[in-house]
Amino acid sequence: MALERTLSIIKPDATKRNLTGKINAVFEGAGLRIVAQKRIHLTEKQAGAFYAVHKERPFYGSLVSSMIAEPVVVQVLQGEGAVAKNREVMGATNPADAAEGTVRKLFAESIEANSVHGSDSLENAKNEISFFFAETEILP
Ligand code: PPS
Repeated sequence: MALERTLSIIKPDATKRNLTGKINAVFEGAGLRIVAQKRIHLTEKQAGAFYAVHKERPFYGSLVSSMIAEPVVVQVLQGEGAVAKNREVMGATNPADAAEGTVRKLFAESIEANSVHGSDSLENAKNEISFFFAETEILP
């Protein structure tokens, strides 16, 4: 399997509940290495642009509002097959469907307050990483 990088966001519902360290422990326990990380407060413009792919979906406005309610932690995770590995470790989008031991099963509150975002393909991972990080900020 190839060494990959993926973009992860610890969402406002989780930062508000002081869960960053616990979520990072799940990632690290699964063999993902945090090679870049910063805590930022997204603007409405940034969150809207990040989720532009969902612009036509009924929950778009609510999703954007939820993402700017509190700071988020954006991070780059690196590892063998990191994109799929992170999706596995996060669990299903809706925590009601998430497998035992996944981040969303452990910590998420609802389909919107679902604690983490992770890139869904290698191509999207590259775009999402460059949305938040310069190459010089990533330290393997
Ligand atoms: S996925 O995993 O991208 O295929 O999931 P998807 O269902 O397409 O959801 C994309 C993101 O939208 C959020 N979402 C919602 N937010 C608010 N209300 C409702 N009903 C809702 N349904 C989905 C979901 O948390 C996904 O966020 P990210 O940050 O991409 O994981």
